Formats: sequence, structure tokens, C-alpha cells
Amino acid sequence: MMNVLILGSGGREHALAWQCAKDNNVKNVYVAPGNAGTALESKCQNITLRDSPNHSAVIEFCQNNAIDMVIVGPEAPLVAGIIDACRAAGVAAWGPTAYCAQLEGSKTFAKEFMADNNIPTAAYQGFSDVTKAKAYVDEQGAPIVIKADGLAAGKGVIVAETLEQAHAAIDDMLAGNKFGEAGNRVVIEQFLAGEEASFICMIDGDNILPMATSQDHKRAYESDTGPNTGGMGAYSPAPVVTQAIHDKVIAQVIQPVVDGMKAAGHPYTGYLYAGLMIDESGEPFVIEFNCRFGDPETQPILMRLQSSMVDLVAKGLQGALPSEAQWDSRPALGIVVASKGYPESSSKGDVISGLPELDSSDNTIKVFHAGTAFANFANDKTDHSNTHKDEKEIVTNGGRVLCVTALADSILEAQQAALAVTGAISFEGAQYRRDIGHHAIDRSDI
Ligand code: AMP
Ligand code: GLY
Repeated sequence: MMNVLILGSGGREHALAWQCAKDNNVKNVYVAPGNAGTALESKCQNITLRDSPNHSAVIEFCQNNAIDMVIVGPEAPLVAGIIDACRAAGVAAWGPTAYCAQLEGSKTFAKEFMADNNIPTAAYQGFSDVTKAKAYVDEQGAPIVIKADGLAAGKGVIVAETLEQAHAAIDDMLAGNKFGEAGNRVVIEQFLAGEEASFICMIDGDNILPMATSQDHKRAYESDTGPNTGGMGAYSPAPVVTQAIHDKVIAQVIQPVVDGMKAAGHPYTGYLYAGLMIDESGEPFVIEFNCRFGDPETQPILMRLQSSMVDLVAKGLQGALPSEAQWDSRPALGIVVASKGYPESSSKGDVISGLPELDSSDNTIKVFHAGTAFANFANDKTDHSNTHKDEKEIVTNGGRVLCVTALADSILEAQQAALAVTGAISFEGAQYRRDIGHHAIDRSDI
């Protein structure tokens, strides 16, 4: 029997924990720090691990609790070298090393890597000087895209429709310090037109195992308006990624990452997420790389995964990933319910009512938790532990709160099923989009 440790507290981690717990060979799934949803999940238990630069709390926990594998959800510990530290201590951990995680941690690194490896992406230039950045924008014209160089939780990107907006974004990031350290340098990018898709793979240094395709909805409001967020909903598969485009993405994007990292002496291991823009003629361009699974893409993708994620990760850790996994042929769609004010601010401690039972009888609806906690502990981030779950009063704990995910015969039916459950859930200031999946639903062939 195996024990698994999952690091993180979002909807992605709830989906990973739920998927791992389904495996009959798994005894315990520990989630650090987890959320109310992971606390309630069968076989799962939330734990508290002190974050430290040398990752010693994680390593000690693994050594003391016979952990067979660590799956790292978010990017921050990956960028901070948790995989390197675990490996050095003989702990089996799934994810990219700090070197490889720079693909997400530094936009400049990612852009240079793409240029060196002929991976198609938008033309760009990096700046730390306000005047030079503005002069470049004036020369290029609008629309144009301004990005904070470091990690900014998916929010450090402004798609400027006008030169005025571009100038304001440069002022905010470089002079106004809006994104702190992450905004000390900006990348200014050519605007790419087309339809976005998320292309996520597992890589073991050599072999590539593509996950089912998906599409996220980054903007806060319906019809893709409003500020960029971490993602307001996603569905899988993404019909924009035809088989021909799938093949092109592997050949032009994913394989060059595997080859380029190997050539640099740092084989890529873990999940790799390519955020793509597919242009009118079906050519893929990389908007960004993430060194982890997507959130909320993980939720619909794992709803469809029939293989065991624990088994796939075990094979990945041995360098023996298969080239295909088994998927439910039905599409899945997840709607994020966010707290009041998200993404600019977020609210905590609002009581959530109307949550359905954790699992629907036919496994077609699943409410993944993200920013949730048990009532008395909403303001105490260090204690979401299992022992308080009997209290059952679940409250918001900021940001994205839930992802209501449905599996159905079509994307439209999945959307309707997810909306029906979402409509019954309420908390003060809850906000969600009713149009998740609209690109696919608008296509005549769906
Ligand atoms: P990122 O954090 O780099 O994924 O950017 C967030 C969002 O901004 C993306 O999902 C796109 O919707 C948009 N975006 C980023 N870069 C570009 C670009 N070069 N052209 C058009 N849209 C972009
Ligand atoms: N859903 C976008 C991300 O995970 O970055």
C-alpha cells in the first residue's frame, strides 16, 4: 500500500488528492496544507508543514511517514528547488527541478529558451527602464502585451488595447511596484490573435505523456471581459486542438523542451503546461509555460482520467511513462466560484451553503474545493486539519473558492449540469461565469 503527499491548497490539489485516493493501492493521501474539501475526502488528511528554504519539513515528514511519492501542486516550491532538495534526500518527488522550473519562474528565461530551441512564441523585448519601455511600445503600437517578469499568480499580464493602457501598465509595474519583485522587469510582447488552449503533459526526462487537452477562461467576467485571473473555469477536451494541431504542438513545442532541457544537462521531469494561442491557420504559439498542472484545468482533466495518477507518477519517477493514458470520452467542464472582489481583493470567512454531498452517485458531478476552510479556522491558515471536520460549517478562505465540475455527453450538457449545482451554492459575494465553455459550444460541430 502506498502513501502520497500532495503539496498545495487549491482546487488542483483537491482534484489530485481525490484522483490519487481512488487508487486501490493507496492507503493515505496527505495534503499540505489542503482545504476543507481535501479534509473531507476519503483516505485524505490535511497536515501542516512549515515552509522553509531547505524544504526540511517536507523531507522529514516523508521520511517519518513512509511517503512513496510527493506531488507538488503549485509553482512556488518548484521554483524554490523542492524537487532538487527531495532528490538529494532520497525522497521521491514529482516535478521539475529549479532549473527547469525557470520556464515558469522567469519569463525572460522562458523567452530565451524558446528562441534557442525554435519554439514558436510572440516577439518580445525585456525592460527595466520606464522610458525605454514606453518608447518601445510607441514604436510597436497597440494592441500590445505587458508582463511582469516574475511569478504573479497569473495576474501580472496586461493586454493593452491602447498606447495609454500600455503606458499605465508600465508605470504600475516598473514605477508603481504593483507586483513587487516580480515587476522589477517587464516583458513587452507582440499581441497574438487566435484561440487559447492549455496543453499539459507529463514528462520523465525523455518520454512525453500528453494529458487530455483543455481550455481555461482567464478573464474575470462573461464574454471574456474584465481583468485576468488565475482562471474562472475550464473544460476538456478543447476542440480547437485538432489531431493535426496536437501533432504540431508535440513536434514544435513539447519535444523541443524535452530535447533542449536534456541538452542543457537538466532533463525536464514533472508536469509541463504550455499555454497556447492557436492562430487562424492552425499554427500554435506559446503564450507561457507553467511547470505544473493548471488550475482549474486539472479539475475537468482529472474528472476524465481513467488511468491512476499514482500509477502514472510512479512510472514517471522511474523514467517509464507510457505514451497514452485512458480517458473518459465524455467532456468535463468546471465552473470556478470566486470570493467577493476576486481578483483585485478577496474575502474570507463567509459561510458557504448549498454544497452537495462530496460525490454524486453516478460520479458525474464533483465540487472541488479551493479557498475553503472550516468555520473556526477560517482566519488561521495553519490549521485546516482533519480533526475539525465534524463541525461541517465550511467558509470561504479567499480567492477562488470552489470549482463545480461536471462530466456529460456534450460540453453544453456539462455546462448546464455544472450551472445547476453552482446555482444552489451560495455565500456572500460569490461570483462565477455562466458562459464557461462558450468557445466549444459556439462551434457548430459540438
Ligand atoms: P500569461 O500569464 O502569460 O498566460 O497571460 C495571461 C493571459 O493574457 C493569457 O492567457 C492570454 O489570454 C493573454 N495573453 C498573454 N500574452 C498574450 C499575447 N502575446 N497575445 C495575446 N494575449 C496574450
Ligand atoms: N489556469 C491557468 C494556470 O494554471 O496557470
